[in-house]
Amino acid sequence: MNFNSETLRGLRPLAGTGRQLYIETYGCQMNANDSEVVLSILQQEGYRYTEQLAQADVILVNTCSVRDNAEQRVLGRIHEFKPHKQRKPALLIGIIGCMAERLKEELVAREPLVDLVAGPDAYRDLPRLLQEASAGDRAVNVLLSREETYAEIAPVRLDKNGVSGFISIMRGCNNMCAYCVVPYTRGTERSRDPQSILAESQSLFEAGYREVTLLGQNVNSYRWHAAASEVDFPTLLARVAEISPLLRVRFSTSHPKDLNDEVLHTMARYPNLCRAIHLPAQSGSTRMLELMNRKYTREWYLNRIAAIRRILPDCALSTDLITGFCTETPEDHQQTLSLMREVGYEFAFMFKYSERPHTKAARHFADDVPERVKTERLSEIINLQNELSLQSNRRDVGRKFEVLIEGVSKRREDQLFGRTSQNKVVVFDRNDHHAGEYVTVEITDCSSATLMGQVIGS
Ligand code: SAH
Ligand code: SF4
Ligand code: F3S
Repeated sequence: MNFNSETLRGLRPLAGTGRQLYIETYGCQMNANDSEVVLSILQQEGYRYTEQLAQADVILVNTCSVRDNAEQRVLGRIHEFKPHKQRKPALLIGIIGCMAERLKEELVAREPLVDLVAGPDAYRDLPRLLQEASAGDRAVNVLLSREETYAEIAPVRLDKNGVSGFISIMRGCNNMCAYCVVPYTRGTERSRDPQSILAESQSLFEAGYREVTLLGQNVNSYRWHAAASEVDFPTLLARVAEISPLLRVRFSTSHPKDLNDEVLHTMARYPNLCRAIHLPAQSGSTRMLELMNRKYTREWYLNRIAAIRRILPDCALSTDLITGFCTETPEDHQQTLSLMREVGYEFAFMFKYSERPHTKAARHFADDVPERVKTERLSEIINLQNELSLQSNRRDVGRKFEVLIEGVSKRREDQLFGRTSQNKVVVFDRNDHHAGEYVTVEITDCSSATLMGQVIGS
């Protein structure tokens, strides 16, 4: 199949001729990748991308609903656009992404500044919606799809480094964790045609990229049914890895219930499949996990960790943790702390539970852990993680790593930063090195967040 978007779309009028488009993105990497898809769709229609808000004829805000504070931030942000709209009445403001899907028409009814609302499966309709909005109508499309994967649309890359790119391999989620809004905002799970994923990976490699991250809410359940064959996640991983040994491959996120040994053995076979697994635990207490509808126990989770240690001894582990979920007791919290110590995570994203409307938890359980307790428990978890990260980084001092250079260090112009296969950031002197290059670095020092080193070979 040919995935050239020009041929698939045919020639259409440039409806947005010259209008300048500004996109602001909140939320996860999938949202960031969706913004790149949106830009691709609208560029085909003659819109021009701008990074200057003041120049924009169209502002799109790609939003996140995962926690209440993510939504509040966006609602606050919309009001900051008011002076721009007053200065330029033809300016169109669109809310897209997960908040658009969750709040639907309510968003235009509630926020007079909003002209357009489009959910995550409605982006092909954006050119029409923008036309409708230009004509003065409030334009809304929040239909979810069972098929849409934007398979043939080549995202216009908005990352700054040109070294590592994100590729969505599936959309939606079928897991229905009790706390989570994602299945409601992103719809049912569907996998993308592997040919289009391989074509996109190949074209990124040819454009100089040296790392791709395959994205999905639960990548381990990736499955594509073709007439004669079936492609599952390990098969897909192997095919992407075979594009070139110089192309690093990462993936996110793995659900512990679906992370099988086959994925681990596939990783072991290809050194360019990076030695880092993000395996969200959410809690260390089996009672909490059951209430969260995670479909695994603490023991099952630790068994998966043991398999990773056995098959990939040099693999780094990171996780997501929620503190203060409904009915969480001090003992449950202790179980989370002990799980963290037992695994010794390199890194963790840690959150206070935030009740989301219509989820199972919101419908059936009381959000009964006081805010003050959530805050206390969260800071305990964060402090422990800082310790664990520092211990892990200290173990790396004196060792040598292959580092893929991503760019100039934020703190010092004369230093570069890159990542190890384990996804740890390393900072070192710039000399003649450049982004996209692999170097061997000996680690000389560290903080809890960063490794410092010296290049000893290219
Ligand atoms: N599909 C991924 C993650 C999706 S959302 C997975 O299952 O691992 C990213 C993280 O946000 C989740 O792992 C969870 O830790 C957190 N999260 C989701 N809903 C939340 C809520 N209602 N309150 C607080 N944190 C939440
Ligand atoms: Fe949400 Fe669970 Fe799906 Fe992750 S697996 S997106 S936490 S429902
Ligand atoms: Fe991502 Fe937030 Fe939606 S985490 S899937 S943008 S709710």
